[in-house]
Formats: sequence, C-alpha cells, structure tokens
Amino acid sequence: MAIRDIVTVPEKVLREKARKVTSFGAELQTLIDDMVDTMRAAPGVGLAAPQVNVPLRVIVVEFNDSEDEEKPPKLYLVVNPKITRFSSEQEMGTEGCLSIPRILGDVERSESVTVKGLNRHGQPQKIKATGWLARIFQHEVDHLDGVLFVDRAEKVWQIEGETTQIAPAD
Ligand code: NI
Repeated sequence: MAIRDIVTVPEKVLREKARKVTSFGAELQTLIDDMVDTMRAAPGVGLAAPQVNVPLRVIVVEFNDSEDEEKPPKLYLVVNPKITRFSSEQEMGTEGCLSIPRILGDVERSESVTVKGLNRHGQPQKIKATGWLARIFQHEVDHLDGVLFVDRAEKVWQIEGETTQIAPAD
C-alpha cells in the first residue's frame, strides 16, 4: 500500500470521463488500497481515482454517518458507482476538494441518494446515504464524469492554509 500524489486543477484527467472498470485483478486491488491510504493521509473524506491520475470509475469514501461521534467512520469502496436515486429535497452545503486547493464553495445537492455499484471483487452493492454522506457520494461520482464542485457552486471563495477537503457542517 502506498500514498499516491493527488493531482490538482488544471490537470486534464480531472476533466475527463473515467472508464468503467472491467477487470478486478491485482492492479485494481492495489489502486483501491492506495486510494484509501491517500485519502486518509490527505486527510479527506472521499477520493475518486482520477484524483490520483487513474481514469477509472472507482471511489472511496470514509465518513462517520451516525449521530454517535465516538463511532469509527465507515469505509465505502465503490467500483462503477451510479447514483440511481436523487431525492427532490436539496440542501446547501460548503464543499472543498483535495484537487482544488484553498477553494471552498456553497453547493446545492440532493439531501439523500441511492448509490449502486460493485465492491472490490465485482459483486453488486447498494448504499443509501443522507446528509453529508449523500453529499460526499455526489461529489465523488461527479469526479468520474469530469465535473468539479466549482461547476455547481453558487458561490466560491478562497481560504488561507491547507484545508481542502469537503467540510462537514460545523
Ligand atoms: Ni473532490
């Protein structure tokens, strides 16, 4: 396992449509493990493969979705993710991105989503997410289509320092 470099704008891979994964061999397993290491080291709550310069449809998300702050965050690994349901209720929230340093923005997203995809072995999985977890999934799946949060943001602004991840509401 290894920490990979995170590419930042205007790197071309961030604007391309990523390819579907069709092979679940050692290369994919290493990619997923490296993405988890890279996300944790950043630190961030989500990462899409194009952000480590790999144009494949893979995302990793790690977030504590429960009310209980003592609980460890839950790790999600999703290959070929597709959001199959967006709630009509939307919510505004402040996002950042490891690939767009020192920029935050207010983005309206669906308050809940259903994500379908495959696990690391190619078996189907379905995740229902609400609130911040739903926001993270929408942000990460966007990356696979070359869409960045600034494209959807109503307002973006610059910050000092290194805070570049999606910022859970405080
Ligand atoms: Ni991002």
